[in-house]
Amino acid sequence: MVFFTELNDRVVGAPSILAADFANLADEVRAAQAGGAELVHFDAMDNHFVPNLTVGPVVAASLIEAVDLPVDAHLMVDNPDNLIQPFIEAGVTSISVQPEAVVHLHRTLSVIRDGGCEAGIALNPSTSPTFVEWALPYVDYVLVMSVNPGFGGQSFIEEMTGKVRQVKEMTDAPVEVDGGITEETAPLMVEAGAQVLVAGSAVYRGEPEAEMRKIIEAGRRAL
Ligand code: DX5
Ligand code: ZN
Repeated sequence: MVFFTELNDRVVGAPSILAADFANLADEVRAAQAGGAELVHFDAMDNHFVPNLTVGPVVAASLIEAVDLPVDAHLMVDNPDNLIQPFIEAGVTSISVQPEAVVHLHRTLSVIRDGGCEAGIALNPSTSPTFVEWALPYVDYVLVMSVNPGFGGQSFIEEMTGKVRQVKEMTDAPVEVDGGITEETAPLMVEAGAQVLVAGSAVYRGEPEAEMRKIIEAGRRAL
């Protein structure tokens, strides 16, 4: 299944599960879907690459069984290579890795693609897109982090609009943005060229259906 490859010029919303009620994950995702979400952003953290710990392929598999949306795994972990096959088997449709945590990035991206998933690179706020320039031909999307990964509810780093622009000058691959995305910041990222709006706390701090819809509509108005 492809998602990013067939986005064309569309702007879409993706709830981040990090801010959801993990005891009711499927219902939380369905609520965001009712508000127009087309993708689930699944945050995997290992307490090494980031100082937080979340969930892995076992939970992804259960969620995929229960909901009717593609699931995008964002691996904020050291040695993501060990987790790629389990996530593919769980049924995710795309996997992004943090290149700061990978030694042989070309190989890692190839394994993701060979497993039938779309491959993404997630850039920390301080990581330059030039760091991954030679890997860009092997990615299906670029995830620009607009907070330091690890926690939800952090403040949007406004300079990351410039990074989205820089990435768009380097590749035609769609840009996903993650961190501090709200009704107010989504338009800034869309104006810069972002197409996939990930939002955690902005969706789940209120009524997820309405909040997801507001973010998507605000982003689309900026097109
Ligand atoms: C941050 C995660 C995000 C997080 C975003 O490390 O990668 O996906 O859930 O949360 P908000 O939208 O609250 O900034
Ligand atoms: Zn994320």
